[in-house]
Amino acid sequence: MDTNIPEGLDINELLEQAESFLRQCYSELEKSPAELNGRIESVHKEIIRTGTYLHTQEELTQGAKMAWRHNSRCIGRLFWHSLEVIDARQAETASQVAAALFRHLERAGNGGRIRPVMTVFRSGTEPDKAIRIWNHQLIRYAGYPDKDGQARSGDPASDAFTAVCQRLGWQGTGGDFDVLPLVISIGEEPPCWFAIPEELVQEVPLTHPEVERFSELGLRWYAVPVVSDMLLEIGGIDYPAAPFNGWYMETEIGSRNLGDTGRYNRLAAVADLLGLDRSSNTSLWKDRALLELNRAVLHSFKQAGVSIVDHHTAADQFVRFQEQERQKGREVSGKWHWLIPPMSPSSTPIWEDNKLRELNLSPRLIYQKPAFAGRDSNPDRDEPASQEEPAVHVQEMKCPFHQ
Ligand code: ARG
Repeated sequence: MDTNIPEGLDINELLEQAESFLRQCYSELEKSPAELNGRIESVHKEIIRTGTYLHTQEELTQGAKMAWRHNSRCIGRLFWHSLEVIDARQAETASQVAAALFRHLERAGNGGRIRPVMTVFRSGTEPDKAIRIWNHQLIRYAGYPDKDGQARSGDPASDAFTAVCQRLGWQGTGGDFDVLPLVISIGEEPPCWFAIPEELVQEVPLTHPEVERFSELGLRWYAVPVVSDMLLEIGGIDYPAAPFNGWYMETEIGSRNLGDTGRYNRLAAVADLLGLDRSSNTSLWKDRALLELNRAVLHSFKQAGVSIVDHHTAADQFVRFQEQERQKGREVSGKWHWLIPPMSPSSTPIWEDNKLRELNLSPRLIYQKPAFAGRDSNPDRDEPASQEEPAVHVQEMKCPFHQ
């Protein structure tokens, strides 16, 4: 018997998961039974011999699309089929990974006509070569907690990761909208960080269709949300680095990112600018501020030529997705409280849907522990201050497209 099989791996489980994925995948791709059976047999042999197996590009692409289709929190799944999958399994070094991420941003951003893209890096089968992207999203704003009586700034959701970046040697301006660097690690090696070239960071300053003074709030948001910390599982194979993006729905920015009290918390500022009465709840100033903030997001993205969807259209598209899936004989996995939009949810058809339930489907996207948890540069770890330089490779990389 070969000894390449990783310890603790349940071979039978992997064989089962691989076969079940291949059956579903090949039936969706309308492949012949002969092709399916041939492939199952060769994957079987490969697993017995090596303890793992390699997906073909076609399997990888279809598996990634299925993972999107199965994501119970996503309202935008009507477009699952259009996902563009970039196979980056050949990337080995942190610089190669960064270059692939820059390419992802360029491809997805597409001058504003956003394309849903996923870049898949190699599987986590060999832990000492495992790739992790430490960022929650490729583009995100830094967060700085209040210090020495100075008010906080930036995105509170990024406070912990921002501290990690600072310990690695990155420095922000301390402002509200500093774009964080990419932080990448290979196995247990110290992470590398890379500043994202400015031309790859599309941002939209917020203006309002009627209220001219709205721009005085100095609000902005980036164009492309690329979630980069989830694990993609296909047929028993884990891909711990598989960043993916769609386009924004306006409430993600207007209601949550800028409106949440635990995020930018800007409803009061918007209400004051609009001259609303904040002395009483019954003026509904929060609701009115929320509405105008969301209108500003839609208006500004439209004006800038950046793809965005409003929550009514997105909800209608979700209903169409459900119908489409029903026709295919597939049940839709859904988490109701994630799918209802965070503004006027009862005005959308999802509100009435009491049949939504979460299913345990594969391929899938799953949360994993942040890559910086428990590592040297984890700021939460209690250790005496050291005079030594942090053990990191600081790298500045030129954008390979704009040398
Ligand atoms: N809600 C997250 C944000 O506001 C983005 C999650 C993915 N969203 C998307 N439209 N694909 O940044």
